Amino acid sequence: MNKQKINTDKKTNILTKFLITLCLVTLVLVSLLHIIVLTNKNTKKIAFMKEQTIKNKDVVILGIESSCDDTSAAIIRDGYLLSNVISSQAVHSAYGGVVPELASRAHQQNIIPTIHEAIRRAGIAKEDISAIAYTRGPGLIGSLLVGTSFAKGFSTALNVPMIEVNHLQGHVLAHFIKEEGEEANIPEFPFLCLLVSGGNSQIILVEAYDKMTILGQTIDDAAGEAFDKCAKLLGGPYPGGPFVDKLAKEGNPDAFTFSKPQIPGYDYSFSGLKTSFMYFLRDELKNNPNFVEERKADLCASIQKTVIEVLMNKLKKAADDYKIKRVAVAGGVSANSGLRNAFQDYSKRYGWEIFLPKFSYTTDNAAMIAITALFKYKDGIFDTIDSVPFSKVVI
Ligand code: KG4
Repeated sequence: MNKQKINTDKKTNILTKFLITLCLVTLVLVSLLHIIVLTNKNTKKIAFMKEQTIKNKDVVILGIESSCDDTSAAIIRDGYLLSNVISSQAVHSAYGGVVPELASRAHQQNIIPTIHEAIRRAGIAKEDISAIAYTRGPGLIGSLLVGTSFAKGFSTALNVPMIEVNHLQGHVLAHFIKEEGEEANIPEFPFLCLLVSGGNSQIILVEAYDKMTILGQTIDDAAGEAFDKCAKLLGGPYPGGPFVDKLAKEGNPDAFTFSKPQIPGYDYSFSGLKTSFMYFLRDELKNNPNFVEERKADLCASIQKTVIEVLMNKLKKAADDYKIKRVAVAGGVSANSGLRNAFQDYSKRYGWEIFLPKFSYTTDNAAMIAITALFKYKDGIFDTIDSVPFSKVVI
């Protein structure tokens, strides 16, 4: 009797195991089938959209930038800029820096009016848009999500492709934006680009729109950060670059000397400079409590001169080693008048063909996102609806 029961239990066990295995195998097969169908559908959709949009005579790209604290939208038609609207966020000034959560909320408020205004100023209808480009990274993840999500929704509604853009690549390719009635100064490949902003200091070898090699970069603070931190020590506002730049024009750049970092290769370092500036002020203030107030312009001129010399020395080394005389500058710090003068000076002294961006393209803007997307559009490189933003990406 007992033996019979054991046999029946055994059979039930085997049957249960068999059924569970069957369920699992079916589940795996169904999931695989689902993935294959989805991928196929996506590929077909992209191919369809590509075919549709490439037929258009005028390629109209809407660019969206929301990586940090500027919400920007731009329209570019066949490489010519029709509009570039930037909504800055005043909310951060009270905190001495960008507050990520406040930035995302402000983007949410600004994005629709900004895009609406860009389309209005461009004098086009939204149906004229061939593709929607957006900054995928690097940047603040919450801020990037706003632009990415909007791009997904709008591209689905208009049934046009999306194009993801690397923010840093955008800064470099801003040199390719053309404006009606203005002679464009566009660099030929290959060229070197000094990318200097609040988060980056890089020397980039640009061989094609999609072939950029970072030859050197900061190992700690960026050049913009050095300006911002030194300005803060002098009681200046955030961002500090424009403050230092303005006062430097009235000061003596040789009034004070600060030791320059000794980093091998083409890499930069700015954190030591900021620290030595801080100790220098601390020591001087012990002897004269009014030192900063009395010598502010000289301090700005001297620290600016030091940052520029550090940037230019490495850039010159790279230009010599790579035998390249076409040299561009990009990013927020490229608005600095001292740095621009240094480029002019190197152009005269070393025969460099230089490319200085218009001031409106030095800070974050959507025009650079749209122009980068145009390169990708022409190569049929489109994005899928499941793409997600990245806070950190390299060129
Ligand atoms: O490219 P950007 O607008 O933002 C990102 O970091 O992505 O760069 C902002 C940086 C800030 O550090 C700001 O102080 C600096 O650019 N900057 C300047 C000047 N204008 C902006 N630095 C020096 N001189 C300027 N005129």
